[in-house]
Amino acid sequence: MTTTRHVLITPGDGIGPEVMAEVKKIIAWINDENLSHLQVTECPIGGASIDAHGVPVTDETIELGKKADCVLLGAVGGPKWNDVDYAIRPEAGLLKIRKELGLFANLRPAIVFDALIAASTLKPEIVRGLDIMIVRELTGGVYFGEPRGIFNMPNGERQGVNTQTYTTSEIHRVARVAFDLARKRNNKVCSCEKANVMESGKLWREEVTKLHVDYADVELTHMYADNCAMQLLRNPHQFDVIVTDNLFGDILSDEASMLTGSLGMLPSASLGERDKSGHQNALYEPVHGSAPDIAGQNKANPLAAILSFAMALRFSLDLPALADHIDAAARNVLDKGLRTADIMAEGCTLLSTSEMGDAIINELKTQVKKAA
Ligand code: IPM
Ligand code: MG
Repeated sequence: MTTTRHVLITPGDGIGPEVMAEVKKIIAWINDENLSHLQVTECPIGGASIDAHGVPVTDETIELGKKADCVLLGAVGGPKWNDVDYAIRPEAGLLKIRKELGLFANLRPAIVFDALIAASTLKPEIVRGLDIMIVRELTGGVYFGEPRGIFNMPNGERQGVNTQTYTTSEIHRVARVAFDLARKRNNKVCSCEKANVMESGKLWREEVTKLHVDYADVELTHMYADNCAMQLLRNPHQFDVIVTDNLFGDILSDEASMLTGSLGMLPSASLGERDKSGHQNALYEPVHGSAPDIAGQNKANPLAAILSFAMALRFSLDLPALADHIDAAARNVLDKGLRTADIMAEGCTLLSTSEMGDAIINELKTQVKKAA
């Protein structure tokens, strides 16, 4: 008998529901084929939740997220909610679910598919074969530090304040994730901060260095984050795993995504601590946003969402073979010249969002038959 796994889907806003519809199709196929039993619950998040419940994420959704084996999120935000109060913006819902679920480690792989080399703005020889993993700290730093706010000063000026803070344990737990991942990859970690100007960066560097004693087999380098931004464009092949704080990780992961040709290709996993019963909170989402300009047009690239689901199969649902099948299906579809608009190239076939989902399922059918 197969175990039932619980998946919470929060499609969100803009293209979120469209790309998640393709993930749902794959889940339905997995269930139909009896490859596993994935039970899906669905909740709004972001603007959709503001419209339905007045808040960007409800306590009920948070509780369901904690109980589920994983959360699959689409994207949040859009012009409709630009004027709502800062604390209940769609983005605040995403930050809240990350914080409440304790998702401190955000894994953002940047992998260059051979078929998409021409889609990168960088020279082919710079990006060919690239496979970088950015590990971004996700529940600390300037995103959550106190004090924060916009304050009136005695002299009549206004002052915007955010605070960068990191504790030793916050640094250690995310650095451990990076070192452990490196051991399964090319055994190299580059830790990025601004130790030259920020005390939090100095502490970061010292603590990562201390922890390295437990991981002497892994090569550790340190880099200032601005230099890392430059090195990613100059010679990205020097990197294997990059570990960095919340804000630098936000920026460096967007930059790394462009090495791969399209933000529409990048998956991510956000993981919490594993508890004694073995349960680990986890949320998977494409790195791209809600793209309101193309929402509702069946144009968006669902591959980042589908590849995020593959990460969920691997890290949370204990179905690594299916994850491999999805990764291979994505590669094959691209090799056949099937493309959504964002990665379209001469001589290729243009597909809609739903056609891309169907193409992946067709590939999966072939893969699974071959493996049987
Ligand atoms: C990301 C996004 C989010 C972030 C926004 C939407 C709050 O840019 O996941 O990278 O800044 O973390
Ligand atoms: Mg970002």
